[in-house]
Amino acid sequence: SGPPVYRSTTTAPVNIAVVKYWGKRDPKLNLATNPSLSVTLSQDDLRTLTTASCSAKFPKEDSLTLNGEPSDISGARTQACLRELRALRAKLEEADSSLPKLSELPLRIVTENNFPTAAGLASSAAGFAALVRAIADLYRLPNNPTELSVIARQGSGSACRSLFGGYVAWRDGTQEDGLDSKAVEVAPASHWPEMRALILVASAAKKGVSSTSGMQQTVATSGLFKQRVAEVVPKHMATIEEAIAKKDFASFAEVTMRDSNSFHATCADTYPPIFYMNDTSRAAVRAVEQINEKAGKTIAAYTFDAGPNAVIYFLEESAAAIVGTFYKVLSATEGWKDEAKSLSSEIELEE
Ligand code: PMV
Repeated sequence: SGPPVYRSTTTAPVNIAVVKYWGKRDPKLNLATNPSLSVTLSQDDLRTLTTASCSAKFPKEDSLTLNGEPSDISGARTQACLRELRALRAKLEEADSSLPKLSELPLRIVTENNFPTAAGLASSAAGFAALVRAIADLYRLPNNPTELSVIARQGSGSACRSLFGGYVAWRDGTQEDGLDSKAVEVAPASHWPEMRALILVASAAKKGVSSTSGMQQTVATSGLFKQRVAEVVPKHMATIEEAIAKKDFASFAEVTMRDSNSFHATCADTYPPIFYMNDTSRAAVRAVEQINEKAGKTIAAYTFDAGPNAVIYFLEESAAAIVGTFYKVLSATEGWKDEAKSLSSEIELEE
């Protein structure tokens, strides 16, 4: 007995961008310099599970437990998410005085990833998406995924895309308040259910340069970045959206690889340069080139985020060729650790 405990549990999937978000026009609100597009992975493979509860019984301070360890929530990004969600709940309570005043209760958030948090596998995206959705559910907020994406974006930019399954665009928007900087579904996973992703973990070590400081340095010092934003990304967005609509894998793959190359080129163009890819990553690039040459057409695409791990996109029909070839080529390459290999898995898409 005593005061009630209100509770809600949800999961959110990992997403891997094929047109990359890289650069903030507003670092406080996480407003991007360019639109981006991602594919959401299946929750059977990589996901965050989050339970949000609130009660007058709890200690007064909000708390967060991540994979069993107490975690700091005093950061501005997490605080922004909590503040916005509480404000939306408070509005509901104002309009309907019969509602319990959950907005005034301390929150307890318990979150778990079913993959190594430090492996550089976009854990912040799934993490903030799950946090926002769990609290929105707890508060019975009527907001749709696109509206929630505006809040999740403030936790981590890429998190806004994890509110949807399938093929998701982050429209960067033009408003200063960021209310038009949000995620939208381009196509559900069922539109192109043959899409697969293979994740190759080159290093499970935490990345050297955080995405926030890498972006800041790129915006401040790279000349190439200006061309990427003005010319390269708009072309890539248009081409890949058309490729998805037509289920044209060769076109999807070419944009994916070109955009990853373009993003890493702007990193190398900063002063001092930033290198996220390493020799092991480059071996994966060559393996994809060999696979495509041997097939006589483009059946595999690589992409790299702010770290050395490769994500390989392909269609189910090519699974044997791709997974087999990777194992052969990379088992002979130093740097692909055994524990990393066992982490590699064939990932299906999230509906
Ligand atoms: O959301 P952040 O701040 O972790 O940045 C993500 C940046 C990339 O993963 C490199 C690209 C992307 O669009 O996800």
